Amino acid sequence: MTPGDASNQTEAAYQAESSVEARLDGLRAQTEEALAAFIEEHRGRVRDDLLDAAAYALLGGGKRLRPVLCLLWAESCGGSAARAMPAAVAVECVHAFSLVHDDLPAIDDDDLRRGRPTLHVHTSEAMAILAGDFLLTLAYGAISRGMVEAGVAAACCREITDGAVAMIGGQVLDTFPAAAAGDAEVELAELRRVHAGKTGALFRAACRTGVRAAGGSEARLDDASRYADAIGLAFQAADDLLDVEADEAVAGKRTGKDAAAGKRTYPGLLGVDQTRREIARLVEEANAATEALGPAGEPLSVLARRLAFRRS
Ligand code: IPE
Ligand code: IPE
Ligand code: MG
Ligand code: MG
Ligand code: MG
Repeated sequence: MTPGDASNQTEAAYQAESSVEARLDGLRAQTEEALAAFIEEHRGRVRDDLLDAAAYALLGGGKRLRPVLCLLWAESCGGSAARAMPAAVAVECVHAFSLVHDDLPAIDDDDLRRGRPTLHVHTSEAMAILAGDFLLTLAYGAISRGMVEAGVAAACCREITDGAVAMIGGQVLDTFPAAAAGDAEVELAELRRVHAGKTGALFRAACRTGVRAAGGSEARLDDASRYADAIGLAFQAADDLLDVEADEAVAGKRTGKDAAAGKRTYPGLLGVDQTRREIARLVEEANAATEALGPAGEPLSVLARRLAFRRS
């Protein structure tokens, strides 16, 4: 290979990566629009203070990883983002609900989220609880109203239910932790159980609803689960690292809280360096799960790297 070939290849890789970036940005913009329109559909059906509280939590600047994952899996299976959008909105509603309740004084007691006061600080604890209830309920409305094929809608509702149930289960394990086992292997297994529940389960619901919306096969559903389970753990391991290392202004939320709260975390158990190695291993695992998609899986690989090596 001549040096010219090498630079052409680098150029080609750069072009490919920036076209994926543009596509991810496009899906994120479509999601923002759909979320805002979805909330506004409910104006007049409930009191404005409840709707405004839900809008504050749902529209306030998240990274939109779960909806983008849903849309990408749909597209990678030959479906359209538009058809999958109700499921993407639903997953983001469940995610927003989970954050509102996670931040409550009785759970993580946080006052900063996405660089702004948490919802209970912005409004009141009672309104934040009710807005969380509202957002979880809206998730099912997004699918049942927005998806035209009843069978697909039912399958997506099942995925969302499985995801929300497992997420809440993970939150319970995180909030009322099992006693320290005194055995590193057992501790690591427990940590994975907590993270797979509180974080991985919604990634799974996001990816699998995307496949469902596109009418994907059982094999693709299995791939989506494998991919989501790996990135779910990588994502929460990255979140644990941010809690240790990140600047609050960049993270947009309080940091340095997990150890003080006695949480089981990756850096707490493995140390920072080993956590980084584990994240890299999980990204490889996620990429392996996209192989059967061929070039259509490339955006999913880019996104896996992005969310595992994120700074906020
Ligand atoms: C935060 O999720 C909660 C965790 C599961 C660690 P995100 O980091 O995806 O939150 P937003 O939506 O981008 O704010
Ligand atoms: C949150 O985990 C998981 C859910 C909200 C389900 P964390 O408590 O670690 O998330 P942050 O750090 O508050 O975003
Ligand atoms: Mg928490
Ligand atoms: Mg928290
Ligand atoms: Mg955290």
